[in-house]
Amino acid sequence: MTGGSGGVPCEPLVYAVLGDPVSHSLSPTIHNAAFRAMGRSAVYLARRVTAEECGPVLRSLALAGGGGNVTVPHKEEVLPFLDRRTEAVEVTGACNTFWAEEGAVWGDNTDVEGFRGTWERATAGLRGGVEVLVLGAGGAARAVLFALLETPAPRRITLWNRTEARARALVDHFGGGGIELLHHYAGTAPEVVVNATSAGLDGRTVPIDLSRLGAPPRQVIDLVYGSEPTPLCGHALALGAVAVDGLEMLVRQAEASQVRWFGEPPPRGVMARAIG
Ligand SMILES: NC(=O)c1ccc[n+]([C@@H]2O[C@H](COP(=O)([O-])OP(=O)(O)OC[C@H]3O[C@@H](n4cnc5c(N)ncnc54)[C@H](OP(=O)(O)O)[C@@H]3O)[C@@H](O)[C@H]2O)c1
Repeated sequence: MTGGSGGVPCEPLVYAVLGDPVSHSLSPTIHNAAFRAMGRSAVYLARRVTAEECGPVLRSLALAGGGGNVTVPHKEEVLPFLDRRTEAVEVTGACNTFWAEEGAVWGDNTDVEGFRGTWERATAGLRGGVEVLVLGAGGAARAVLFALLETPAPRRITLWNRTEARARALVDHFGGGGIELLHHYAGTAPEVVVNATSAGLDGRTVPIDLSRLGAPPRQVIDLVYGSEPTPLCGHALALGAVAVDGLEMLVRQAEASQVRWFGEPPPRGVMARAIG
């Protein structure tokens, strides 16, 4: 393979998703499709790493001119290995994208941008401010809440988590501003439900029973992907709601990663078609 100017042979730049597990990850498929479409001399791999390995591997990839993504469960642990952090990393306390500029290793959290795009498209038809119920209190919920607080604000944002203490800590993390902690979701009537829990990854479990809400939601956004439909999307569709799974957000956050690495997105639709 050749790269650079004058046809001088060079090694492809190496990008990787770092996490554990990573064998299920669709990131290599969508990023390599983008590299091919752009004619880049680059390769994207999936690397299963321990917590101890993740930061050093991240730095060596970035400082060699490549970069990558961090996934569960290392998004928070890698922060000490970054020289520069975007506001999204500072606020969410999580990094999912890394690269280097002028010898400094940067980290961003493009899950925020990925969710924002999905939210804007999914809720475009809902008039007026909506009430949204966010489920979960992990890294994904942080990205979702930051994105929601930054967009034209929903009328009401409520948060429920299986372990209430974690949800309370998350509300406190955001200074309480604009996020209400729910002790019980039953009887509430959000127009939109966002699943930022990992319930459903097994293809069976739903995070909540939507029929216990005061009224069926109009829209469900499930960050989980894998089974089609996901358990929560299937449950929502049966109740007459519109539902979108996490594949759209996956593609949007990956497109944003490519912009961080190369300054431009891949051609529209290349990544989505790679997994379509
Ligand atoms: N589509 C995308 O691009 C995208 C991007 C980021 C993340 N995600 C997905 O988002 C999900 C969450 O990721 P994360 O990083 O936030 O994980 P995390 O930090 O491990 O948090 C997991 C969350 O799920 C909750 N949970 C787990 N099992 C549950 C169950 N059976 N019922 C109800 N709640 C349950 C946990 O509640 P407790 O606190 O009670 O344990 C916690 O709130 C994952 O499935 C991930 O793949 C998707």
